[in-house]
Parts: sequence; structure tokens; C-alpha cells
Amino acid sequence: MNFKNKNILLGVTGGIAAYKAVELLRLLKKAGANVNVVMTHSAKKFVGRTTFEVLSENKVLLDLFSDTESSVTHIDLATNAHAVLIAPATANIIAKLAQGIADDALTTTMLAVTSPVMICPSMNSDMYANIRVQRNLDILEEDGFNILDPDSGVLACKSVGAGRLPDPWFIFDRFEAMLVKKDLKNKKILISAGPTVEAIDPVRFVSNHSSGKMGYAIAQAAEKRGGQVTMVSGPVSLDPPVGVECIDVVSCEEMAQQMLSHLPGSDIIIKVAAVADYKPVDPADNKIKKKDHGKNIAISLIENPDIIKLIGAKKTKEQFLVGFAAETNDLEKNALLKIKKKNLDMIAANLVGSSDSGFKADTNKVKLFSRDGSSLDIPLMEKSKLANILLDHIIEKIG
Ligand SMILES: Cc1cc2nc3c(=O)[nH]c(=O)nc-3n(C[C@H](O)[C@H](O)[C@H](O)COP(=O)(O)O)c2cc1C
Repeated sequence: MNFKNKNILLGVTGGIAAYKAVELLRLLKKAGANVNVVMTHSAKKFVGRTTFEVLSENKVLLDLFSDTESSVTHIDLATNAHAVLIAPATANIIAKLAQGIADDALTTTMLAVTSPVMICPSMNSDMYANIRVQRNLDILEEDGFNILDPDSGVLACKSVGAGRLPDPWFIFDRFEAMLVKKDLKNKKILISAGPTVEAIDPVRFVSNHSSGKMGYAIAQAAEKRGGQVTMVSGPVSLDPPVGVECIDVVSCEEMAQQMLSHLPGSDIIIKVAAVADYKPVDPADNKIKKKDHGKNIAISLIENPDIIKLIGAKKTKEQFLVGFAAETNDLEKNALLKIKKKNLDMIAANLVGSSDSGFKADTNKVKLFSRDGSSLDIPLMEKSKLANILLDHIIEKIG
């Protein structure tokens, strides 16, 4: 989702979590959105309007009558908004929105909004559980509003239960997901990501430089596009993407077992993981001691299962299999050979060795080759953007 040139209306109401709206505003601005804040008088008791005005670089609409001297009116704000986020949403605003009340700037603006809306309830857990609050939330949901469930835990009022406003990054992530076209709805997507780690002894291993960033970016993009995503990941230092079923593995054997057991029922399989081709034949049970060896030590390696080849051999005609190939030379020749040998439908090949693409980098540059002989050069770009272009091409190929 590209927030550039998008007008986002951020509604802030009088809850203890209003301070989190400041961080949310920062995240929206960082993503390139033009944000207009509409706050209630109660919200002003928690966070000052100046904070929102400075950070949004726009006038805040607080008072329906005295603020109209500014160039934007509540109707302009509603009409121009590409999407609306109300966080935190008090029990009071939820009740007023459910009943169509328009007695302040935010509620009046909301009656003129026609774009997608996300409401983030936040309140004491007994208030949240109250039948009237739940009934009002049901009404809003039926009216087409997206309700983001609050987190559970210890609340500001010291009670324990559901009612806490989720972290701003999570709200931002789900708000972004709400706005993404769901062109992978009903599709099951299986992804492998990260490196595999093959033990030499209990403290040493054979592995590679894969950071998992590319696979995680694809999983995240596919989930936001409505896909049901399962990701089998080797050890990485990334947080699992929201909404993705993440299965952690260490070795190639474990990854192969998980990928093959999740293969039936998957529509699209994307193998991004950098799997160790070889593993130590006989990992030592105890740490290998230097004193037990001379100047040289040899580690004998044995071939690991070729996961993508196993999947290629088992997959049905309806299943679409995509591989990634990191090459240091003969990119095209090696990529085309892999499509044939491993029964792939598409391969994303990249030349490793440059600091701005391939392993660890936040950007990547690949060439896509398809079984039908077509190819596409994708220039250097953020892995998140590349993930979406790759998914566009997969969708185009599977029809
Ligand atoms: C210290 C304090 C904290 C509050 N926190 C919340 C809250 O987290 N959620 C909520 O629904 N109401 C909370 N309230 C009550 C609302 O501020 C009150 O219902 C107010 O009328 C809401 O107005 P608004 O919806 O126009 O912002 C709190 C009140 C006080 C005094």
C-alpha cells in the first residue's frame, strides 16, 4: 500500500491511550500520507492539539464552529479522505457512531465519510465487555466499519482483560492491510524463508548469509493481499509478519519435512529459503576440541535433500511453484536449467555479491523467468515493493 498522496483522517477520542495516536500519526506521515487529525474535546484533556498540528503539518479540527475559519471544513475532510482511522475509540464515540449522532466535529465529519474506516476500541475491560458497547460494535461492523480488536493484559486502570489499544505499529499494519486489494483471497500460500543451519557439533554449524528479508517481505505482502500464508523459516532475527502462520525450523531436513507436509492444499509455493546444499555427515555430540586435532581438521559433508526438487516432483498441475536462485555467474543459463530440472513454474534469479541486492540487503534486483519462456527484469528496489511485483506476476500467470 502506497500512502503517498493519500489523505488519511485520524480521529482521536478521549481515552487514556490517546498518546499512542501521536506515534500512529508519525507512522502514517513516515509512510507518506497527508494526515488530518480530528479530535474530541475529551481527547484534548489527554494530548494537546499542538502536538498533532506540528506532527501532521495540518490544522486540527476540534471545534465544529470556531475551527471553521481554517480552510478545511468537516465536509471537505470527509469527502477528501481516502481512509479513516479512529484510535483510540472511546465507548462514547462507538455509541454515537452506531446511532448516527452528530454533536461534535468528529461525529459530524464521520457521517459524511464514504471511504473505508477502521475503529480501534480502547477502554476498561468491564466497559469493553458491556453488552451495550458490544452491541454498538456489532452495529458498526454490520455497517461496514472495520473493528480492530483490543489487546488483553493489564490496563491503565489496573484491571486485567481485553481493552488495551494495540501498539501503534500493529494498528498501522492492520490499517494498511485493510486498504490493500484482496487479490489473493482464498489462496493458500506456502513460503520458505531464511537460511538453514546444519550442526557440526553442539556449538558450530554450516550455514549461509540469508537474512530472511525477501521471504518475510513476500509473506507479509501476500497476507495483506488476502492470502492464507504459512511460512517455514530458518533461524533469522526478524519478527514474524502479522497474520502469517510461522513455523520455525533449523536444518534442511526439518524444512523439507514441514514444506512437504504443508504442500497438499497449497495453491502457490514460493521457495525463498537459502537451504544448505550439504550438511556435516556425522555431527559431533560434544564440542570438538582443538587439542584433539592437528593444524588441519576436515569436515566431511553429505548432500542435503533438494527441497524444491522434491516439491516439483510432487506438485499437481494446479499448484504454482516459484523458486529463487542466487547466482554468482551465468544467471540466465542457470535459472532456465533449474526451471526444467526442478519442474518450476517461475524462478526469480539474482546475482549475489553486490551490497545492494541479495542476502542481507533491504533492496533486491531480480530477473524473473517463467516456464512459458517469458522473462522480466525487475530493477533494484525495496524488497517489500519487489514482493508485490512478484505476486502480481504470479497472479497474472495463474489467471
Ligand atoms: C482518566 C480518564 C481516562 C479515560 N479513559 C477512557 C478510555 O480509555 N476509554 C473510554 O472509552 N473512555 C475513557 N474515559 C472516559 C471518556 O473520556 C468519556 O467517556 C468522554 O465522554 C469521551 O468523550 P469522547 O468520546 O468525545 O472523546 C476516560 C476518562 C478519564 C477521566
